[in-house]
Amino acid sequence: MSNIVVRPVTYKSPQSEKDQVLKTHEDLYYWATESRFKGPWEKEIFGLNCAFDGDKLVATTSYTITPRGQAILSDVYTHPDYRGQGLAKKVLDATMETYKKYGARAVYLAAWDEWIRNIYRKYGFVNVGNMGGRGSFKLTLNDSGKDEVLFREGQKAEIRPMGLGDQADITSLFCAQHPGLVIKHYELGCYLGSYFEAEFYVLQNQVTEGVVPEERKPKKGYRSYILDGEETILGLGTVIPGGRRHEGHSGILDIILHPSYREYNQAMLEKLEDGLALDHVYVYIEENEQFKIDLFEKNGYKKLTNLENHIKIVDESFNILLYKKNFK
Ligand SMILES: CC(C)(COP(=O)(O)OP(=O)(O)OC[C@H]1O[C@@H](n2cnc3c(N)ncnc32)[C@H](O)[C@@H]1OP(=O)(O)O)[C@@H](O)C(=O)NCCC(=O)NCCS
Repeated sequence: MSNIVVRPVTYKSPQSEKDQVLKTHEDLYYWATESRFKGPWEKEIFGLNCAFDGDKLVATTSYTITPRGQAILSDVYTHPDYRGQGLAKKVLDATMETYKKYGARAVYLAAWDEWIRNIYRKYGFVNVGNMGGRGSFKLTLNDSGKDEVLFREGQKAEIRPMGLGDQADITSLFCAQHPGLVIKHYELGCYLGSYFEAEFYVLQNQVTEGVVPEERKPKKGYRSYILDGEETILGLGTVIPGGRRHEGHSGILDIILHPSYREYNQAMLEKLEDGLALDHVYVYIEENEQFKIDLFEKNGYKKLTNLENHIKIVDESFNILLYKKNFK
């Protein structure tokens, strides 16, 4: 243990170190890290604080920090031969310093097991929501990271295409606290009050040519727009084209706006529909979301059916209304 050294691995690091990090990653997390090792995603700061035993990588934790100080903590991993020796704490300590160095306001993560959640609780992370067994946690580093600042009313807001550097800001939206509110993002399977990292990669996977592997081409009809505020991102609108058989014809349209910014629903919907390259879209509405029922009915969406208990997450289930609009 005495030879353990902690240092960051970033896009500037030697390829041998990057390769060792990538060996610990799978699937979407692999390409996300591999891509950021070629260069930063927009203005994001990304890296991993890694513990090395000599040249051998033995523990990691990654940090992602946006220019507006929203941060993600991910990739917390210790090599099996080195577990239980305080290495996770060592790399986490380093990452807490990294957040301070770059002025992070709030940090978000997802955790499953209770004993692992307890590691994060010791750093001040609190549970801000759950989706099934996945708990979302937030660490508020200073007052400017509180929800009442991030989502304060009256911010100047504009709709723009989602960018690669928006991950942590969108995560702040999804981790926002709204007692009594369930807002789903149907196709991605996440809820306001839940964590968003994997879902962000799924979205990017649909569209980002040159970043995702060659065989994963952008899908016709895909769109994603965000409602950008002054402090962070206040909303997300997506059209996700259907899979295989109906590719190119239909998709699922979904809008999630922070409840204080619902007045932008109409503008977001118009943006998503404008020049849409699909024959028709479906919308899934949770039965209690009356404001969404009103919005979509007003805009020509027709109800097809009630889907009882259509979404089940552990012991919670939701009744869904299915709506459709034809564009051809
Ligand atoms: C989670 C993980 C990173 C912990 O790494 P580690 O280097 O063994 O952790 P540490 O030795 O620094 O221990 C950190 C704390 O967890 C506790 N801990 C470690 N292993 C534990 C275990 N198997 N059961 C219960 N508590 C445990 C330690 O006692 C310590 O708590 P303390 O502060 O009260 O002393 C490691 O088990 C791992 O890589 N797991 C697989 C990947 C994973 O699940 N990552 C988390 C994703 S959210």
